[in-house]
Amino acid sequence: MCAADLVPLRSIMIAHMQEQHLDAVAAIEADVFLDPWSRTMFFQDLKSAHGQSFAAFKDETVVGYVNAWIVCDECTINRIACSRKNQGAGIGAQLLRHLIDAAVQRGAKTFFLEVRVSNTAAQQFYEKAGFVKTGLRKAYYPDTREDAVLMSMTAASSPWVSAKRIVSAMHIAELASKKEVIPGTFHFVLKSAALASQASPGQFVMLQVHNSTEPLLRRPISLCGAGNDAVEILFQVRGRGTQIMASWEPGRRVDVLGPLGNGFIVKKNIRKAFIVAGGIGAAPLLHLARHMKNMHAAIEVDFFMGTKIHRDFAMINGILPETCAGHFASEDALAPYTGLVTDAFAGYLREHEFDSKEAAIYSCGPEPMLKTVAGIAQGYGMPCQVSLESHMACGVGACLGCVVETRDGFKRVCADGPVFDSSELDWNHD
Ligand SMILES: Cc1cc2nc3c(=O)[nH]c(=O)nc-3n(C[C@H](O)[C@H](O)[C@H](O)COP(=O)(O)OP(=O)(O)OC[C@H]3O[C@@H](n4cnc5c(N)ncnc54)[C@H](O)[C@@H]3O)c2cc1C
Ligand code: FES
Repeated sequence: MCAADLVPLRSIMIAHMQEQHLDAVAAIEADVFLDPWSRTMFFQDLKSAHGQSFAAFKDETVVGYVNAWIVCDECTINRIACSRKNQGAGIGAQLLRHLIDAAVQRGAKTFFLEVRVSNTAAQQFYEKAGFVKTGLRKAYYPDTREDAVLMSMTAASSPWVSAKRIVSAMHIAELASKKEVIPGTFHFVLKSAALASQASPGQFVMLQVHNSTEPLLRRPISLCGAGNDAVEILFQVRGRGTQIMASWEPGRRVDVLGPLGNGFIVKKNIRKAFIVAGGIGAAPLLHLARHMKNMHAAIEVDFFMGTKIHRDFAMINGILPETCAGHFASEDALAPYTGLVTDAFAGYLREHEFDSKEAAIYSCGPEPMLKTVAGIAQGYGMPCQVSLESHMACGVGACLGCVVETRDGFKRVCADGPVFDSSELDWNHD
């Protein structure tokens, strides 16, 4: 458990349930339920992509827990309990609030649970959270053949959803236009005034790509532009999710979570911006380049882009503003510069005069490229912001699936980034 993972409630802390907590969880479970789950069942859930489990701690002892499954936009709450001597202290409510928040952040819109007909106290507890009774399951509990009351609620109607910000980040956008800019790389315009009004350069969206349940997780894609009523994305087909996206046709309604992440910061004193893009890493940088001139008319923007093959530069045709000076490097000897974009960039810096106090670097691309760019920035004493990519599950800081090591400990790429100051990152990790 890491400190950032803990949520204080007076002396109670809530954290993701981990394997070392399972003995205590199973002991409480056996004590308070007639039909307890085994330790193995909790363990299997910890390994499942659908599972979401939290434990509550008092003086580092497990005093309660909650377990749920999140499949697409539905969250089913399976277990919630507190140890007998800690019941009535509000721990269950805090666990449930925490779970609901995390589930909403993972995209859950509807919540379900079952409770014994005789357990009216529990039914009242769930009603306070916004659950309503929606059905009866006859002889549901095998131990006593007691009926179960089925209760459900929507995130939007729950008074306990403190993640209103996340709910307001859910949008249905219309795919207004689609273009295959180079083979396997697509430019989409997604119409949503709400999304466009919140977007800033460097931010990304999580797109729901599945048609049924597979692939389950949303896919993170940067915004490469935002206008008055639409945002733009540029993406490369990599696997199943992006393949599905490539099959979408204009007019389709797309479920979008965003805009997410922090975005680039352009300080007022910057007069010279060096943008260094590696391949599809150009996407968030195009948004920055398009926005920069609006922010500070006096900024000179040099846009360096590297690709393996020359023809791939066509992906930014019509997107890179004409006010930016483009510098292109490819490894196939057809670009103005043959070789790595970082060598082209370093060569440019050697040959041109500029005031490093008024200059800054912004970069996105493969990690080895970013590491070299960070080294160049350090050499010139220039500030440098890099946008990182990491495998993401929730995209909103809840699952810790995207953490990177920084000089300040582990940080979440989705919520603390994706843009980081290059000096903050540990470039020598394994
Ligand atoms: C903040 C952020 C912004 C991004 N912006 C863009 C963008 O603007 N345009 C774009 O084309 N792509 C972008 N990506 C990468 C994109 O999310 C992945 O390519 C996509 O999720 C792959 O999904 P898939 O189902 O097609 O592939 P999968 O079947 O999931 O994977 C196919 C291959 O891609 C790799 N991969 C999957 N996800 C990632 C990832 N997050 N980072 C690096 N490699 C990955 C896998 O290891 C595998 O080799 C971004 C990623 C992040 C984290
Ligand atoms: S993807 Fe879940 S915390 Fe970043």
